[in-house]
Amino acid sequence: MTPALELDALTKRFGEKVAVDRLDLTVEQGAFLGLLGRNGAGKSTTLKMVTGLLRPTSGRIQVLGMDLGTDALAIKRQIGAMPEDMALLDMLTGPQYLRFVGRMYGLEDAIIDRRAAELFEKLDLEPGPKTAIADYSFGMKKKVAFCAALLHAPRILFLDEPFEGIDAVTNRTIKDILLGLQARGVTLVLTSHILEVVEKLCPQIAILDEGRLKGAGRLEELRQGAESLERLFVDLVGGAQTGELSWL
Ligand SMILES: Nc1ncnc2c1ncn2[C@@H]1O[C@H](COP(=O)(O)OP(=O)(O)O)[C@@H](O)[C@H]1O
Ligand SMILES: [Mg+2]
Repeated sequence: MTPALELDALTKRFGEKVAVDRLDLTVEQGAFLGLLGRNGAGKSTTLKMVTGLLRPTSGRIQVLGMDLGTDALAIKRQIGAMPEDMALLDMLTGPQYLRFVGRMYGLEDAIIDRRAAELFEKLDLEPGPKTAIADYSFGMKKKVAFCAALLHAPRILFLDEPFEGIDAVTNRTIKDILLGLQARGVTLVLTSHILEVVEKLCPQIAILDEGRLKGAGRLEELRQGAESLERLFVDLVGGAQTGELSWL
């Protein structure tokens, strides 16, 4: 089967800074991959390149066998994305924003509204009918971004730190939705800097540090060779600082 995602020496430089450094990675269809790494490891940059928000400096991205350099539009029809900054339109209300997104995907208004209502109910998102997204709480914005990523029933879903700033109940709901999608064969890729998030949810992980891939594989296998996954993670990325603060 064609892989859902194939990265070949993917690289992004910002001036001198190499944010993503010759990243090779394959994600099979139906996989649920957790891209793990410390702050600044290059996770968001990778996801932005893969979802077409940022142009790579070099390297190749293939999604479902199509090349992002030449088939961007066809790829975008198949993927859903929740980027780091959520990329919402602040002056619209949540339902208006979903209309906007849905129409971009060529969905009929009636279908968009039905799906939006279902998503809003499931996520317990109840904004006032006239409230602009600008006035939503952080968690509400995150929910809208999540809804927008799901609206067109994508085959692959890319989520950047989906559980950041989300309450425990919503956390649970989103996890349930993701597991339901996985059961239906949707490929999922999420980033997180929190080991526990990835450990609980993702059978497959890839660890990034300073833009480089430090380890990748099935969670069980990575865990087997190590004392614990935390130990493995800290060993792979290094730099855990212990000791006291000088003035305390
Ligand atoms: N637009 C940008 N301009 C300059 N440097 C950037 C830019 N975006 C990201 N970086 C740098 O690239 C590195 C990786 O960032 P990022 O991909 O956001 O990391 P992560 O999501 O893993 O926390 C960081 O050092 C960050 O400061
Ligand atoms: Mg990030």
